[in-house]
Amino acid sequence: SVIKSSLIDPDGGPLVDLVVPEKDRVSKKLEGELMPKVKLGKIDVEWVHIISEGWANPLRGFMREDEYLQSLHFNSLRLEDGSFVNMSLPIVLAIDDDDKEAIGSSPDVGLVGLNGDLIAILFSVEIYKHNKEERIARTWGSTAPGLPYVEEVITPAGNWLIGGDLEVLERINYNDGLDHYRLSPLELRKEFDKRQADAVFAFQLRNPVHNGHALLMNDTRRRLLEMGYKNPILLLHPLGGFVKADDVPLDVRMEQHSKVLEDGVLDPETTIVAIFPSPMHYAGPTEVQWHAKARINAGANFYIVGRDPAGMGHPTEKRDLYDPDHGKKVLSMAPGLEKLNILPFRVAAYDTTEKKMAFFDPSRANDFLFISGTKMRTYARSGENPPDGFMCPSGWKVLVNYYKSLQTD
Ligand code: ADX
Repeated sequence: SVIKSSLIDPDGGPLVDLVVPEKDRVSKKLEGELMPKVKLGKIDVEWVHIISEGWANPLRGFMREDEYLQSLHFNSLRLEDGSFVNMSLPIVLAIDDDDKEAIGSSPDVGLVGLNGDLIAILFSVEIYKHNKEERIARTWGSTAPGLPYVEEVITPAGNWLIGGDLEVLERINYNDGLDHYRLSPLELRKEFDKRQADAVFAFQLRNPVHNGHALLMNDTRRRLLEMGYKNPILLLHPLGGFVKADDVPLDVRMEQHSKVLEDGVLDPETTIVAIFPSPMHYAGPTEVQWHAKARINAGANFYIVGRDPAGMGHPTEKRDLYDPDHGKKVLSMAPGLEKLNILPFRVAAYDTTEKKMAFFDPSRANDFLFISGTKMRTYARSGENPPDGFMCPSGWKVLVNYYKSLQTD
């Protein structure tokens, strides 16, 4: 019997599944081997993963020029029926002059993974100019030197973009011991249905969970129960793709997150921990829309957002790159995200009078201690403990060991 899911519908129609069915794999691979090839970088593969599982639904491949322009200029994509979905980041594949030359007028192109194997095919391709400055300026609102994704991906990339319809020969795996956490949107939906969730609230993060983060998540649960939901499920959804060099690596974060659940800071009974395979742009209010949109596709109808989501310090000036309140403001108004319930939160900080993380109260600002990522690293490196109640001790220990291992490297 088919049980109708009560979860939020994916963006723009049924979830795409671009992984070639097992029975067609051999013939598809033979077909692909005859095509001109493009070699993918690590972050290209992360995008192949994202597209193939429908995180960017209803996008079916790397963007062609029309889609690129809509995403870049409107932060959205227009569908055939005239409706719009949110799409704030261009999802594109860059190639260089030699690739372009080799592709010539071939309609289809094979995509080669990191180990040299063909992993996907791009059908009915279109090649167009990669104006990097325009892409950077529009995506980040800044062309300052030192933007991590720009330096890692865009600056070294070729001067052309290639779009087309994607088919992936096999599910993307990383064989890093964490693949079991990489649930696709479809798998997450099955899990939420199995647990009979009547609300799913997503928490995007790229940092270790401190008790301020936990405050946001636990407060959301309380509010949802108050609203009458009987079984709200938390999707604790750390980002698993590219992050900047001084962020905590994924394996360490996953270990830290397990401790937070073991310790009961978050309730393991009503929480699902999974990895969101996207790379990070650090594009603030523009990127947080992508983070939220992708979680609709995974079945979340509530999205938590706090201070400076997807933000970072300005690479050359002593200030945040974005206004820390703009992420939540933009998200609450974003075209195409109307069906998602945004739960905006004030900044949480360490309340020295209560000795715990609490929502910042400006009327007694001096009682609060802001513990930034930099400050956390300084504590961990010097072996000094952060104040009691900042993070559960077992989670903190994971970070101390990580930072210690950096010193001896
Ligand atoms: S992000 O790049 O994934 O946004 P991070 O892991 O730091 O970075 O944040 C995860 C979520 O927690 C985001 O919604 C962010 O706004 C929120 N957040 C982080 N720190 C705080 C804080 N001190 N107070 C309130 N919200 C916060």
